[in-house]
Amino acid sequence: MLFKILLLLLYIASIVTFIYGLWAIGPFFLKLPWVPTEKRRARRALKMANLQPGELLYDLGAGDGRILLMAAEEFGACAIGIEASPLQFAFTWLRCFFSGSKPKPSVRRENFYQSDLSDADVIFAYLTPEHAIRFQDDLAAQLKPGARVVAVAFDFPDWKPSDYDDKHLLFLYEMPPQAGGFGAYLAERDG
Ligand SMILES: C[S@@+](CC[C@H](N)C(=O)[O-])C[C@H]1O[C@@H](n2cnc3c(N)ncnc32)[C@H](O)[C@@H]1O
Repeated sequence: MLFKILLLLLYIASIVTFIYGLWAIGPFFLKLPWVPTEKRRARRALKMANLQPGELLYDLGAGDGRILLMAAEEFGACAIGIEASPLQFAFTWLRCFFSGSKPKPSVRRENFYQSDLSDADVIFAYLTPEHAIRFQDDLAAQLKPGARVVAVAFDFPDWKPSDYDDKHLLFLYEMPPQAGGFGAYLAERDG
């Protein structure tokens, strides 16, 4: 009996490992691993960005769709996720499809480097330093004046934040970005 239970546990563990492997492999090849933003941190980020009802938010790499659902359900925003990995895209698509919120969030299967983000009011960006460096010029060139970018964990090194939350490690930028980076922000804040 004990042997059968152990065998069943082993079977369940291998299925879970297999599913997790499938889930992790897309983001791994995109060199931006799936690391979800904890809900309290995400809520703080959206508040910091002053996301308003009816505004358009893009999440660069939608992951499991949590940012989109929160932006739509709690803030009344039009939330669009950009997700290149097929499994994350499918999962988020289903979550959006079954979401009862109005406006309904949605997700596009795209590489965010190729997306048109010019109509964004708010960009949610949980990137790596490499992606932030690579994307900052394109992003600044296409976003409209007044658009806000909220970055989780890693800053955009050439841009001076207009606000910073050290508890949640969040950086807020207003377009067009000011030069100087985080160092300039700290120098100004600390006199
Ligand atoms: C760090 S997770 C962030 C997930 C979500 N935004 C959150 O904060 O909970 C990054 C996500 O971006 C996706 N991703 C990575 N590179 C991408 C790219 N070039 N275009 C679109 N999505 C990408 C990954 O598949 C992964 O789901």
